[in-house]
Amino acid sequence: MIFSTDVDGLLTSFGEGGGKILGYTWEEVAGTSIQDYASDPQGFEDLLSAAKGAERHAREEMSFRHKQGHSVHFSVILVPLTNTKGETIGTVGICRDITDAMKLQKDLVRIDRLSEVGRIAADIVHEINNPVAVINEITGWIKTIVTDAQGLSPEDREELEIALTRVGEQTQRCRDITSQLLGFVRKRAPHTKAFDIRDILEKTISFLKPELKHSNVEIVLDFADGPLMVESDGRMLEQVFVNLLSNAIHAIRDKGAEEGRIHLTGSIVDAEAEILISDTGTGIPEEDREKVFGLFFTTKPADKGTGLGLPICRNIIRKLGGDITFESRPGEGTSFKVRIPA
Ligand SMILES: Nc1ncnc2c1ncn2[C@@H]1O[C@H](COP(=O)(O)OP(=O)(O)OP(=O)(O)O)[C@@H](O)[C@H]1O
Ligand SMILES: [Mg+2]
Repeated sequence: MIFSTDVDGLLTSFGEGGGKILGYTWEEVAGTSIQDYASDPQGFEDLLSAAKGAERHAREEMSFRHKQGHSVHFSVILVPLTNTKGETIGTVGICRDITDAMKLQKDLVRIDRLSEVGRIAADIVHEINNPVAVINEITGWIKTIVTDAQGLSPEDREELEIALTRVGEQTQRCRDITSQLLGFVRKRAPHTKAFDIRDILEKTISFLKPELKHSNVEIVLDFADGPLMVESDGRMLEQVFVNLLSNAIHAIRDKGAEEGRIHLTGSIVDAEAEILISDTGTGIPEEDREKVFGLFFTTKPADKGTGLGLPICRNIIRKLGGDITFESRPGEGTSFKVRIPA
């Protein structure tokens, strides 16, 4: 935005740029005071006075009001305008719109603060890990004492044992959360070797057998003939598939249908191994699509989900040079696609 004023600060010209940025036409502003459009008219007037006395120019960041009401931030330079006798006859203003730059600056500050919070969280988790391990150990020890104790009524013994089992379960849950979070922030380098990815999937399915026992969920491994070789980190992939399969099992259970199916397919596409994990569960509603990979996003009850599964999966797969995406139809099911270098 470029404008000029007379000695009294009344506009004598106002370029097209100003019209674009502030929304006024020359006809609307001709003869008015430029400071009337500043968010802080007094501050602008001070700058104008400074410019009159200045050798070359006065410069400051100021905001103006757009005709529609919102603020526009400018870097303003005011240059005194003189005639041939050297008398000041007005001012020329050259203003650069820095609204976007200021927003970027704010975003950077926020990102910086977030990563600081992440670092602090990692430290806290680390600190909590040790006391939780101690509680876990002592719980086991008290259990032994209760079992061996004389003079306890059978009811008391039973109640104590149940309570201790609870404490044990809950501390285990804390340890799972802390170790998962630590895995997320710590940068363990992948240990890669060549293997058939089908072996990993079969192993993962066998881990989940106990969970499958109580439900009518069928897992179908539907791979093309022959091995599907990748050079990757098997332990990390196991963690990913356990997370994805248990999410699928939960989604099927949540739907409450008689039975459900998880279909696993694998193939090589453009030098990448592509694994599809499709379930017939609840599906992911449109409004959650952007959120499911976020830390701590969960729709499960507080004692069931922590919302760490998917962000950790994505983190791992990206570390392995691949990516993870999904497609979902609410009410029909979801299909997660994992791609890693073949
Ligand atoms: N296959 C799926 N079908 C439907 N919804 C899913 C599926 N997978 C994930 N989601 C949704 O995404 C959310 C986040 O999943 P994520 O694995 O990150 O956390 P979680 O399963 O809730 O908890 P955690 O894995 O930490 O125990 C879930 O709570 C669920 O709402
Ligand atoms: Mg999960």
